[in-house]
Amino acid sequence: MTRTPLVAGNWKMNGSLALVRELAGALRDAKPEGVEVALCPPYPYLPALAEALSGSGLALGAQNLADRADGALTGEVSAEMLLEFGCRFAIVGHSERRELYGEDDDQVASKFLRAREAGLTPILCVGETLRQREAEETDQVVVRQLMAVVEAAGVEALERAVLAYEPVWAIGTGLTATPEQAQAVHAGLRAAVADRDADIAGRLRILYGGSVKADNAAPLFAQPDIDGGLIGGASLKAEEFIAICRAAG
Ligand code: PGA
Repeated sequence: MTRTPLVAGNWKMNGSLALVRELAGALRDAKPEGVEVALCPPYPYLPALAEALSGSGLALGAQNLADRADGALTGEVSAEMLLEFGCRFAIVGHSERRELYGEDDDQVASKFLRAREAGLTPILCVGETLRQREAEETDQVVVRQLMAVVEAAGVEALERAVLAYEPVWAIGTGLTATPEQAQAVHAGLRAAVADRDADIAGRLRILYGGSVKADNAAPLFAQPDIDGGLIGGASLKAEEFIAICRAAG
């Protein structure tokens, strides 16, 4: 089963108009081959980035979305609005949203459903904390997070979706799961989907995220069940991000 790798840059609450220009320019010049590349900046930078990337084949994504289509939801942004600004992807269930903003599995499932219903491709994040890993609960935790969405949306919903395994203890810490540790979790996630539908499991892209850098990306991406990366800090540095995209391509 060949799956086109995807590398998505999650800027989090970082960046500027200057970074929009710098990264878009560098990526246009570099044209990484054999890999789909997406950039997920903070909302206000979407229009400028959409314009800077137009015609480049590079995709745009959002870091979050509202779990409803419209209404009195001060501060929220809907899937339809993101589509108007050229987004193809939306990250849902990032551990920072789960931990800092209290998003639970039900809310993550609602956001996932909303994204798909509107025509966005959700990038569903799952991952265990250090305490959960030490208690050997990793597989149980990530499969529970995935199945909360599968129960709500049906396994068919994974046809137009991406999964991202991001161990919480590896995000922004400089600690990375070893390629073997990550591969084991990815294989477990794919097997859990295969229990419901083997074809969908075979086509599902599962990204790894958590301190991916230019110098550790290649062995991670070489694993059979790792289909690219969700990149935080290193996506803010053009050279570093381009090197990661090349390692996936
Ligand atoms: P990091 O973040 O690459 O800075 O560890 C990854 C993420 O949170 O998506």
